[in-house]
Amino acid sequence: MEVMKIYGPTRFSGSVDVQGSKNAVLPMIAAAVINAGVTVLRNCPDISDVHDALDILKTIGCDVSFTGGVVRIDSSAPISSYIPECAMRRIRASFIFTGALLARCKEFTVSQPGGCNIGLRPVDIHLEAFKKLGANICISASEITCKGASLAPCDITLRFPSVGATENVMILASSLKGTTRIINAAREPEIEDLQYMLTSMGAKVSGAGSSVIVINGTDSPVNLDYTVMPDRVDTATYLTALACGGGSLTINKSNAKHLLSYINILKKCGMDIELHDDCIKACKSGRLHGNVSVTTTPYPGFATDMQSLLMSVLCLTDGIGLIKENIFENRFCLADTLIRMGADIRIYRRTASVRGVRALKPVCGCVCDLRSGAALAAAMMSAEGISELTNIHYIDRGYEDFAGKYQSIGAKIERIERIDA
Ligand code: EPZ
Repeated sequence: MEVMKIYGPTRFSGSVDVQGSKNAVLPMIAAAVINAGVTVLRNCPDISDVHDALDILKTIGCDVSFTGGVVRIDSSAPISSYIPECAMRRIRASFIFTGALLARCKEFTVSQPGGCNIGLRPVDIHLEAFKKLGANICISASEITCKGASLAPCDITLRFPSVGATENVMILASSLKGTTRIINAAREPEIEDLQYMLTSMGAKVSGAGSSVIVINGTDSPVNLDYTVMPDRVDTATYLTALACGGGSLTINKSNAKHLLSYINILKKCGMDIELHDDCIKACKSGRLHGNVSVTTTPYPGFATDMQSLLMSVLCLTDGIGLIKENIFENRFCLADTLIRMGADIRIYRRTASVRGVRALKPVCGCVCDLRSGAALAAAMMSAEGISELTNIHYIDRGYEDFAGKYQSIGAKIERIERIDA
């Protein structure tokens, strides 16, 4: 199995381009199913979640190509409404195909989705919304079957602003003539990007970024060529590595507006960050101070995907930081490894308190989910000596050429084959 060897400490320099957004492109790949034609998506990150999503498209009958960051999907052939468990279990975003299958095939049969083990991650909000639109749902021990021969647009109020459920309803409603309103919709930037993509496809979608999204669907979607937004968590990860290791960076092709809550916390800790139209210039020289307290909430609050990243930063600051994780039940798994590196972290239920130390020690760690893996790598890049990370397939789910990108800005990281890992 491949492992990552990380030689620290690292002082960063130079510039790097942010990848296309994983969490924006995945629902767009699913949405291509509602158009019995050709969809071209540009600035797609070469990550395993995208390849797994494209494999689902192939499984249900689409013709797919992915070269040079450009995904081309031809979904004009007849589409199967069944996604096998092996495909569903690989990624959480597999469930985002259900809205598109209900739109195209008027039914679907799938298993529960997979994804990082950051919590239970039920899909009840998605299913409640489908039922409200008129679908019939049958849930067995292993499968979820849904039939919706005659769906009717209506108002749908989500009990929680679920990102995936908002996206599923947007995609389904984009194929329904008439007005569907999503109330208490998720407000993440990826939702806005999906709105622009669905609008390019011929639906009339408005309100994304607010809590009420209005969709007037079309029964004749058109082919489109769309460029995906930058990945805000990839951007935050570069800032995290810089905050841990020190030096200066220019982060190109980024949109700072999408991660202001994280940037503001790093600035409060003493990082020097300049925001420009399509790049961020940041530097960190002296030790940061970490008397900050954050609670993760739906956008525009502090993003849960940046919570692990902040924990790594707070391990090295002068002061005590508090992190409350309100979105997922199990998102502190990196703390054990950070503690073995010498961090002073105490966890009580969903709150972590982090008292900064002057330096962390290198260790061998095991990645347990995508974002905590990146956070551990950032911490290890600051530690003097050789660290090692196993289970790095989690990192490959969401980061394109992680080792290569960080080597290009000063890190020393090797991917090596280790038989006993
Ligand atoms: C999306 O997951 C992202 N994934 C996650 O990013 C992100 O952390 C999350 O939104 C929150 O911002 C993708 O976009 C592919 P939710 P999603 O539905 O849609 C509960 C990453 O690292 N819930 O907003 O699954 C759920 O259990 C990943 O890139 C229900 O109870 O998130 C969770 O506690 C990790 N029932 C909360 O809502 C439902 O039907 C938020 O989930 C749906 C969700």
